[in-house]
Formats: sequence, C-alpha cells, structure tokens
Amino acid sequence: MSNTQKTLSIIKPDAVQRNLTEEIKSIFKKNDFEITSEKKIKISKEEAEKFYIVHQTKPFYEDLCNYLSSGPIVVMILSKENAVLANRELMGATNPEDAKEGTIRKKYGLSIDKNSVHGSDSEENAKKEIDFFFNN
Ligand code: CMP
Repeated sequence: MSNTQKTLSIIKPDAVQRNLTEEIKSIFKKNDFEITSEKKIKISKEEAEKFYIVHQTKPFYEDLCNYLSSGPIVVMILSKENAVLANRELMGATNPEDAKEGTIRKKYGLSIDKNSVHGSDSEENAKKEIDFFFNN
C-alpha cells in the first residue's frame, strides 16, 4: 500500500548564507522528493521559540532559538512515499560528525547547531510544523 507523506524541511541560516539552497533542493529532487511549497523567510526569536517548543527544557534551547532567528531560512514541504523517515535518512545524524557519507549534514553541516537542515521527526510533528509555517 502506498504511503505518500508530507514533511517539513528547513534550510537553516548557515546553509542559506553559504548559498547552498539550490544545491540542497537539487539533492531532495534527485531523491524523488517533490517540493510542494517553499518560502524564504526570516523569523523572530519568539517564533523560533514556538517552533522549537518541544526542546524548551533542553540546555541548548536558547542558543537554538537565537540561531534559527539569526538569518534567512528556506522552509519547504516535501512530499514522497514515507517522506518523514526518508528525509531523516537523507539528512543524516543531528551532529554532522556522526552523519553517514552521502547525507546532507555530512556534506554541508558545520556543527551540531549549524547542521544546515531541519526535518520533522514524526508524521505528527510534520503536520504541526507544516501548519506552523504554511497554514496561518
Ligand atoms: P534540529 O533537527 O533542527 O532539531 C533541534 C536542533 O537542536 C538540532 O537540529 C540541532 O541543530 C540543535 N542541537 C544543539 N545541541 C543539540 C544536542 N545536544 N542534541 C540535539 N540537538 C541539538
């Protein structure tokens, strides 16, 4: 049975700043993701805090929110069979040092914070994150 899903992807400030947007989009397309919506925006710290609310108790929360609001980002809805998991595999481990060869974070990530891309970690969160950026 087919299971076409949508997931939210963000090209983070470090990658947008290094002009990697088109290169990263082409990797998604090569891997059969359809980019069904896309926008380049800059969010406020308050918006970043809302977006990353699940991490609010983590020691890195403050830095994470400052970082995501520090410059333009590209937010996209990606569609594919089992898109949530497929995107997480293509992105690689959160820390680029641990990411496998051929993954986006291995190729472009600079550090655990500046890891170039974000992707939803479950179908439920994908719906919430898509809503956050596209349905208001
Ligand atoms: P992301 O997938 O966007 O989700 C939360 C982000 O927090 C994560 O990528 C990392 O960039 C960042 N982060 C910083 N420190 C940590 C950590 N110790 N563990 C997990 N994520 C971290």
